[in-house]
Amino acid sequence: MTTPTPKGTGILTAATGSAHARISGIGGYRPRRIVDNHEIATYMDTSDEWIRERTGIVTRHWAGEGESVLEMSQYAARPAMGMAGLSPEDIDLVIVATVSHLYQTPAIATLVATELGITDAAAFDISAACAGYCHGIAMAGDMIRGGSATNALVIGVERLMDVVDKTDRSTGFIFADGAGAAVVSQSDTPGIGPTIWGSDGAQWDVISQRNSWLEVAEDDSLPFPTIGMAGQTVFRWAVWGMAPVARRALEAAGITVDDLDAFIPHQANMRIVDAMIKQLRLPEGISVARDIADTGNTSAASVPLATERMLREGTAPRGGLALQLGFGAGLSYAAQVVVLP
Ligand code: UT7
Repeated sequence: MTTPTPKGTGILTAATGSAHARISGIGGYRPRRIVDNHEIATYMDTSDEWIRERTGIVTRHWAGEGESVLEMSQYAARPAMGMAGLSPEDIDLVIVATVSHLYQTPAIATLVATELGITDAAAFDISAACAGYCHGIAMAGDMIRGGSATNALVIGVERLMDVVDKTDRSTGFIFADGAGAAVVSQSDTPGIGPTIWGSDGAQWDVISQRNSWLEVAEDDSLPFPTIGMAGQTVFRWAVWGMAPVARRALEAAGITVDDLDAFIPHQANMRIVDAMIKQLRLPEGISVARDIADTGNTSAASVPLATERMLREGTAPRGGLALQLGFGAGLSYAAQVVVLP
């Protein structure tokens, strides 16, 4: 038998995209209901003092009626598209990062696109927990540079309190709800630095859904599967493991901490933020996201929500350089330096 001659060698057209990509718009949505630590203490044995001291959280937002994952995504996306000066027809890619869209299929991104009037866009969800938004920015930027998209909407959205047990002393006081969004567009100059990312499945169980849907379906004595977290293990990993990741992202971008205008780490715990500032030897005067104090830990939404706030309140400059870093279940992480819109 003779080996067939390959037909395709050299005849395929390869996609070519924009030289660079940048974030052109940011938006955020915080649910109406504000929950203070005194209310948390009605669900579990804790106190306002303990929660403030151990996490820096004073209040957080919990979603209610009219604040579904789909609705919050739209409320965050519209101002992001507005800041970018784009209409729905300009968007050809929608990525939603979430762990609290409670349908196995299809992706909520498809419905978000349709509700926003974005037609026929590539739309899919990614599951990278608290690192999801930074994964989404990496993917959107690379797809725009690779020629498979021109303007992308990246949304980080969570209704975590649907999958967290309010009485659980390891999670009930820390997690919260909200949505943040960014538009990523073509650019003549670099706007998104190289992404440093990774994961460690060996630590899969330190933050995870307690039982699979199948286990729950097969054993009706099992409760609705909420998220469990081995707080101390994750804390240590974040404090010791994430500063080197942040340093590598700076190095890959060709800058040092002195060049930064803002540091926007995942809002997991104020003590983690403070420990990172020390380890990175962040010079004073660089604006640091401290959104957790009144937003709580909103997982995939936390970095875009903190960014939106810093731009709105003027604590980080438009066009400034920000180091953003997401980390969480997986244990997965992603960091990159971005030019703020
Ligand atoms: O977003 C994804 C990534 N997530 C994170 O990065 C979260 C990382 N982890 C954390 O932020 C922290 O581990 C927590 C805030 C979750 C917990 O704080 P901790 O300082 O690690 O608490 P701990 O579990 O070490 O407990 C310390 C003490 C214990 O009392 P004793 O043994 O010292 O007397 C606990 O029993 O605090 C007690 N405790 C509580 N007290 C009041 C534990 N949970 C609570 C609580 N309220 N909810």
